[in-house]
Amino acid sequence: MANGAEPKSGGNTKFVSLVSLVAAVGGLLFGYDTAVISGAIQFLQEKFSLSSFMVGWAVASLIVGAAIGTGFAGKLSDRFGRKKTLLLAALLFTVGSIFSAIVNNFTLFIIFRIIGGIGIGISSVQAPLYIAEIAPSKIRGRLVSLNQLAVVTGIFAVYFLNLGIANHGSHAWNVSTGWRWMLGFGVIPGVIFFLLLLIVPESPRWLQLQGRKDEAFKILKKLMGEEEAKKEIGKIDTSADEEGSSIKKLLKPGLRKALLIGVVLAILQQATGINSIMYYAPEIFKNAGAGDNTSLIQTVLVGGINLVFTIISLWLVDRVGRKVLLLIGSALMTISLGVVSYAFHIGSTGTWVLFFILLFVAAFAVSMGPIVWLIIAEIFPNRVRGVASSIASVSLWLADFLVSQAFPVLLDTIGSSLTFLIFGVLSAFAFFFTLGVVPETKGKSLEEIENMWKQS
Ligand code: BGC
Repeated sequence: MANGAEPKSGGNTKFVSLVSLVAAVGGLLFGYDTAVISGAIQFLQEKFSLSSFMVGWAVASLIVGAAIGTGFAGKLSDRFGRKKTLLLAALLFTVGSIFSAIVNNFTLFIIFRIIGGIGIGISSVQAPLYIAEIAPSKIRGRLVSLNQLAVVTGIFAVYFLNLGIANHGSHAWNVSTGWRWMLGFGVIPGVIFFLLLLIVPESPRWLQLQGRKDEAFKILKKLMGEEEAKKEIGKIDTSADEEGSSIKKLLKPGLRKALLIGVVLAILQQATGINSIMYYAPEIFKNAGAGDNTSLIQTVLVGGINLVFTIISLWLVDRVGRKVLLLIGSALMTISLGVVSYAFHIGSTGTWVLFFILLFVAAFAVSMGPIVWLIIAEIFPNRVRGVASSIASVSLWLADFLVSQAFPVLLDTIGSSLTFLIFGVLSAFAFFFTLGVVPETKGKSLEEIENMWKQS
């Protein structure tokens, strides 16, 4: 643990970490479902004789489901609690995995991908939020980012799973059966997530807001020790009294700024183009002169680098802070996208282009990947956290949908060089937006962050 990472007066860091880890399994499902389609898609296309529009829809249906899921996740979690909402997410994901694997009809396939997507959307916002609400301030960044670590671990693992399944049988077997295994294996993390969730406690902050003080205190005591728990419960009390429950509060000047930061960063996380690499990497690498080994490169390099740099981010986030990492990351993203754009412009290919694409992935993994989800989970006040973080993450998923739909069209119309230039300009905007508007939240308690908005 980092300096000062141990909660004082008998708190139980191991317990907090374990609970966070359980919630983070939600991220594993997120990563799994994001990546699984890239391996299954060519076989699905053949099985159901899909047009290219339908291929796009097979990829995008999950994202549409996720946008729907995040849309009502906030209301559900403010009403029924964080834990029940996460259980629902696990259930939907599991149902989506089983049925999308066994159907024989493309419309049903899409329906079950959307159902799974709703689960992914819910857990993408609720898992970080739940962790933020139970974590001690000093290690909150790292614990919440465990969720993103799980996302990229899911992506990495599924690349291998897809390769393994595809190599297991003939092409005809893959068209009839292989893709079913790829999607169906999702049932394993889905069920594990569901069962693990049964043993974690409800968020004490949520319980407190429901007036269930004794239960809240008991859990806080277990998480941070008696002395800290007493202080904490007092702070939550004040924040609940002052805030009131109205969503209109979100539009008051101080909170409006918090909402603006959440929504703009959410959109920028996607509009800077990460998923163009995640979803279309083999094509991009081919254009950059990587030859035929593209799926291996994708598996080992993109997945591996994403994973390694997410771990580095976890290590740094509570030490150097969110803002510094976002600034360094967005600056490096701008530079690498600029170079890639220039390389496509002059028609140059080769390893050095590949290097800058990977630098972009590394810079994203250390900054916008984990930190945007972290900021969405921690900047909003207790009373409106559920709803406000939903608004930010709906924006993120809608931006994901638009960018992933637009990317192939942009390549065909304005070409790769200009497309990457646009991503680069948006990364530069992310840099200046962070510099001018985003506050540092490292080491502050959620209630201290809440007070920052009152002063602004
Ligand atoms: C983003 C995803 C992306 C993933 C890549 C996440 O933070 O929200 O859209 O696919 O990072 O690692």
